[in-house]
Amino acid sequence: MAKIKVAILGATGMVGQRFIEALIDHPFFEVGALVASAKREGGKYVETDRWRLETPLPENIGEMKLVAPDAEKVVSSGVRIAFSALPSDVATELETDLAKSGVAVFSNTASHRMDSEVPLIVPEVNYETIDMIVGKKGYIVTNANCSTTGLVLPLKVVQPLGIKRVFVATYQAISGAGYPGVPSLDILANVIPYIGKEEEKMQIESKKILGVYDSSARTVRDADFEVHASCVRIPAVDGHLEAVEVEVEKPRSEKEVVELFESFESPDVVKGLPTAPVKPVIYRHEPDRPQHRYDVNAGEPAKSAWGMAVSVGRVRVIENYIRFVVISHNTRRGAAPGSVLNAELAHKKGYL
Ligand SMILES: NC(=O)c1ccc[n+]([C@@H]2O[C@H](COP(=O)([O-])OP(=O)(O)OC[C@H]3O[C@@H](n4cnc5c(N)ncnc54)[C@H](OP(=O)(O)O)[C@@H]3O)[C@@H](O)[C@H]2O)c1
Repeated sequence: MAKIKVAILGATGMVGQRFIEALIDHPFFEVGALVASAKREGGKYVETDRWRLETPLPENIGEMKLVAPDAEKVVSSGVRIAFSALPSDVATELETDLAKSGVAVFSNTASHRMDSEVPLIVPEVNYETIDMIVGKKGYIVTNANCSTTGLVLPLKVVQPLGIKRVFVATYQAISGAGYPGVPSLDILANVIPYIGKEEEKMQIESKKILGVYDSSARTVRDADFEVHASCVRIPAVDGHLEAVEVEVEKPRSEKEVVELFESFESPDVVKGLPTAPVKPVIYRHEPDRPQHRYDVNAGEPAKSAWGMAVSVGRVRVIENYIRFVVISHNTRRGAAPGSVLNAELAHKKGYL
């Protein structure tokens, strides 16, 4: 079967590079267009000198010429899908125009995440909301902010206990700010207790993702728990670690909560998708795990699902409060391959 041609919008950025990496030898999709800012139009990708991943830049990608962020030019490159990794102010209009032109847009940007007709998906948590796009040729499907993705996976596990309030403090890597991102003088040997708009995103996006899907109206009613976030930038390269405290209605013992994490499985429709990790939530029993250094790239099978599992540890229960620590890869699970997983889900459901 012929592969579906895709564009990567923002292909020279941190997330755009992860898209290129995630699409190497992909069974359904192949890169047909690379989009960056207008000033780069017509230049070869390799000449931008922006590649910052350990995976070598594929030669055929390096030779591709960059396209300007213009809907007509993207559509005329013959793509059916656009994976978006643009700054949100640029993405808002371009994503809308592409969807109107019949392109399926899978976006990492905040621009349309909270639009009522746009699904916001982490497949292991709320795969059913992909049905919001049924019958549309062009549409936008979003994935969450990177720190929200790491939060909602473990929250899904404890949701049956009745979540009342969530308190979360994050320890977020510098790749979350893009490239070149945070100035080295600010972040070396330092932490910065503020990340613009991040706390607000965690608060609203978590409630949409863990909300109730009404399949007849094709709308989501937000979950009614509160989320209180404090977001901090730290000098790690990749990975967002989060210290979480959840107030629940039906408390369980530490042993029972650990068993919930260990027995969590992907829904059947997600199992076996090329980028899906076999176990989306991995529980670490060591007292000092998970850590950025050892756990950020968790996820089997190797390569296709690297960095797609979140690692949880340090469960403690105090009365109605469950505490744990979780780490997730911000540009993998929280961005590009996360978005590719959404497209694989749409492909499996016949929406492409
Ligand atoms: N980094 C993360 O962990 C992460 C996680 C989840 C979601 N996101 C979201 O993903 C998006 C990209 O983030 P990033 O970290 O990859 O940022 P980045 O490294 O700064 O990359 C930005 C990309 O957008 C392009 N761009 C910038 N201004 C443009 C314009 N006016 N017109 C067209 N293209 C333009 C850049 O192209 P040039 O090279 O030509 O400037 C580059 O390809 C953002 O919306 C971000 O919030 C990021």
